Amino acid sequence: MLTIITNLEILKLMLIVVIVPLVDVVLISFLYFYSKIYKTNDEIESEELVKGIHNTILEIIKKREEKVMTGEGNSIGGDFLQLLVEAHHDTNASLKISIEDLVDEYKTFYIAGQETTSTLLAWTIFLLAIHTDWQEKARKEVLNLFGKQNPNPDGITKLKIMGMIINESLRLYPPVIAITRKVEREVRLGKLTLLANLLLYIPTLALHHDPKIWGEDVHLFKPERFSEGIAKASNNNIAAFFPC
Ligand code: HEM
Ligand SMILES: *[C@@H]1O[C@H](CO)[C@@H](O)[C@H](O)[C@H]1NC(C)=O
Ligand SMILES: *[C@@H]1O[C@H](CO)[C@@H](O)[C@H](O)[C@H]1NC(C)=O
Repeated sequence: MLTIITNLEILKLMLIVVIVPLVDVVLISFLYFYSKIYKTNDEIESEELVKGIHNTILEIIKKREEKVMTGEGNSIGGDFLQLLVEAHHDTNASLKISIEDLVDEYKTFYIAGQETTSTLLAWTIFLLAIHTDWQEKARKEVLNLFGKQNPNPDGITKLKIMGMIINESLRLYPPVIAITRKVEREVRLGKLTLLANLLLYIPTLALHHDPKIWGEDVHLFKPERFSEGIAKASNNNIAAFFPC
């Protein structure tokens, strides 16, 4: 059967097939370019903060560079920043790192190393202030090992009580409360099959406060739970302890 299309119908069709997408394209392009020019206050503030952090780190690097150049500091006994600055000035082009990489590494170590460590120390001091019995035990252990000498790396590894206290502090108040992982390819994990691209969220804080793992006294500060190792403390769930 032959269908007769009227002029009006052709116009309607044109409207749907041509005009509507055209308007869409124009509108979307406009929004796209507008968003490139126009920024929200949040975006502006965020960009300023990024720049501020970058410049602060650049200043710190410059100061150290001067010392490295004048030979005031050298790699023997130097710190991580020293090594980074030297790597930036490596005469071998294939070993040289860019200033962007230097700033990046600095940020990683500052945030990953500084915040975590100070959080751990703050909670540990707090816990020892409340639990004076453990404060006394820790003091005794340190004095037994070092007397009036400054602690040294060899001795520090022998501090058993202190290790238990730090682990209990990390269990109760982990500085990093969760970590995430992405499954790259399908893998069996016990009874589970994890599909590729799956995102895993590992809730450290929740695992550290699970009574099924640590017992009914899970919320209490009891460093003695670590006296015979992680397995004994965690009802044989060593992977449930995620200090770092
Ligand atoms: C109590 C102290 C610390 C805690 C609780 C801690 C915790 C963690 C955790 C949970 C991760 C894994 C993050 C993830 O994979 O998603 C991590 C990674 C990392 N941490 Fe720490 N950290 C501590 C101290 C430090 C220090 C002192 C440094 C360096 C000076 C440092 C440098 C790093 C770096 C570079 C990574 C990334 C490693 C990678 O590429 O996978 N951390 N830390
Ligand atoms: C530069 O470093 C690379 C990688 O370590 C090495 O193979 C190469 O021999 C070095 N070149 C010079 C001139 O030292
Ligand atoms: C503390 O935890 C770490 C990491 O799991 C472990 O290697 C260490 O033996 C523990 N120390 C004590 C005293 O529990």
